[in-house]
Amino acid sequence: MNSAAATAPCLVFGEALVDDFSTEQVVGGAPFNVARHLAAFMAPQLLVTRIGNDAAGQAVRAEFERFAMSEAGLQLDAMEETGRVLVERSARAHRFTILPNQAYDFIDRDTALTVVEAAQPGIVYFGTLAQRNERSRTALNALLGATGALRYLDLNLREGQYEERTVTRSLQAANIAKVNEEELQVLFKSYFQIKPDDPALSAEEVRASCQALLQMFSLDALILTLGHRGSAYFSADGQVVTHRDNPAPPFVIDTVGAGDAFSAIFLLGKMRGWELDVTLGRANEFAGAICAIPGAVPRDLGFYDQWMRKWR
Ligand SMILES: Nc1ncnc2c1ncn2[C@@H]1O[C@H](COP(=O)(O)OP(=O)(O)O)[C@@H](O)[C@H]1O
Ligand SMILES: [Mg+2]
Repeated sequence: MNSAAATAPCLVFGEALVDDFSTEQVVGGAPFNVARHLAAFMAPQLLVTRIGNDAAGQAVRAEFERFAMSEAGLQLDAMEETGRVLVERSARAHRFTILPNQAYDFIDRDTALTVVEAAQPGIVYFGTLAQRNERSRTALNALLGATGALRYLDLNLREGQYEERTVTRSLQAANIAKVNEEELQVLFKSYFQIKPDDPALSAEEVRASCQALLQMFSLDALILTLGHRGSAYFSADGQVVTHRDNPAPPFVIDTVGAGDAFSAIFLLGKMRGWELDVTLGRANEFAGAICAIPGAVPRDLGFYDQWMRKWR
């Protein structure tokens, strides 16, 4: 058996949805973006999600097919609609309306448990959006309770879509948490009463606060992504690994899905046993390249070839 065949899968839990631009529909959802990248790199993965019996659900399934992903974790809901986010384009910034009560809010616990028991994942990826309703939150908690897998949380806070309690419990459940700068501000505000308009923290204060978060939630690591400035990895033993000098993308079209791309390659590195430093460098470089294509996931699968060759 080769090592790829022996790798336990990464179970990805959460929303598969459609970003509805009215002129076009783009399949997304952070977990689905992560799962598709992993699938493109031939890493064993399993997306646990729920869709409805509608056109958006067909679009999601077409992506499962395009990426040759297993549908073992794909639940079908006869009543609820496939997740949709309404996007209004404007010259300055897009406006997003995340619709409530979507099929991904109703992920069934027992079906999810059967899948996790059969799959024996080595890693579980989760976020917070698919925990906004009790039904899917319950399924996630049951699933986490049924496995000893490494737990990777990409907090991915969406305004109005999470409760502080869920953030706290998610951090408690995680081994590794990834946040962007805005999300770190939210954590500092909730747990240390540091407000965004307080005087800026020095680098040393940020570092100490991140160490405090690591301890507070017994995390192995906290990953802070910093947009075009790269990322910082804080580990429980006090180590900080920063990546600032990745090759910049030639141009930036949009940064949609940059964090998901980063997470996918971080998880790929874990699965493949890459050195931490190598993993972080690759995650940054790949996430940067995703900023140079429209959207979170390439339309042409040929996009992945260069990376596979480079990282072989
Ligand atoms: N403008 C950019 N130029 C180059 N790389 C970027 C840019 N924006 C994001 N990235 C890459 O994507 C990663 C995640 O982006 P970030 O915006 O921090 O996360 P999120 O998408 O979760 O908000 C960064 O660590 C970096 O590697
Ligand atoms: Mg994010």
